[in-house]
Amino acid sequence: MTLRVDVLTLFPDAISHYCATSVLGRARARGAWELRVHDLRDATDDPHRTVDDTPYGGGAGMVLRAEPIVRTVESHPDLVRPVVALSPSGRPFTQSLAREWAAGSGLTLLCGRYEGIDQRALDLVVDDEVSVGDFVLAGGELAALCVIESVVRLVPGALGNDESALDESFSEGLLEYPQYTKPAVVRGLEVPAVLLSGDHARIARWRRAQSLARTLTRRPDLIARRGGLDEAERALLEEVVGPVGHERLNSKGPSDPKDRAHEPD
Ligand code: ADE
Repeated sequence: MTLRVDVLTLFPDAISHYCATSVLGRARARGAWELRVHDLRDATDDPHRTVDDTPYGGGAGMVLRAEPIVRTVESHPDLVRPVVALSPSGRPFTQSLAREWAAGSGLTLLCGRYEGIDQRALDLVVDDEVSVGDFVLAGGELAALCVIESVVRLVPGALGNDESALDESFSEGLLEYPQYTKPAVVRGLEVPAVLLSGDHARIARWRRAQSLARTLTRRPDLIARRGGLDEAERALLEEVVGPVGHERLNSKGPSDPKDRAHEPD
């Protein structure tokens, strides 16, 4: 089944252009997904094609008007549900939502701009609101592209043989272990010897320990969410990477050479 994505935006070219590139472009050529981009200005009825206005109640900035959004949705009854608005006020977009949407028939993304979207448009035609992170973008286009790319790469048949659809980071609630490729030495930095050992069980243990250590230092919230570490995980960490102390929390991680450069001799 082909996943269908509709995007409502003030910058249709930005969406179309990125979606024709790289993984997304190849996946479309393979027929794994289909994109329709709608310019919200096409649904205005004044000569200036006005999409924004000042906020009721006062305040800085402009608000995206409800009418062009509602009209665009109403004039395309075949738009796929859910209709999802991108906004820093939305619920967090996560890998599990990406999985859920990749398993469905598609979705419609509404890109906001300015200080926000008239609440009545959200009440009338929007099913869900998501944010791609706790930071503020100038508009929803980049956020929509994040959503599209993370959803489409999970659609069966979207990726070629040499492209991996594994979602290792997050799929198990842990960040991915570090990866290395040839050559074996880069500017004096060697590949960890275990990866050259050919001992697959040892490699798997090392990778697991690295994932745990990384997650513990960079994303302690993910460790807390899965209920902490169990005894076996603690032992594995201690054995493979040594103590991962609390002083390392918020640092970039135990194996990062940039960290080591700042440590005293
Ligand atoms: N629009 C502006 N900032 C955003 C964010 N962080 N996530 C989703 N949409 C946005």
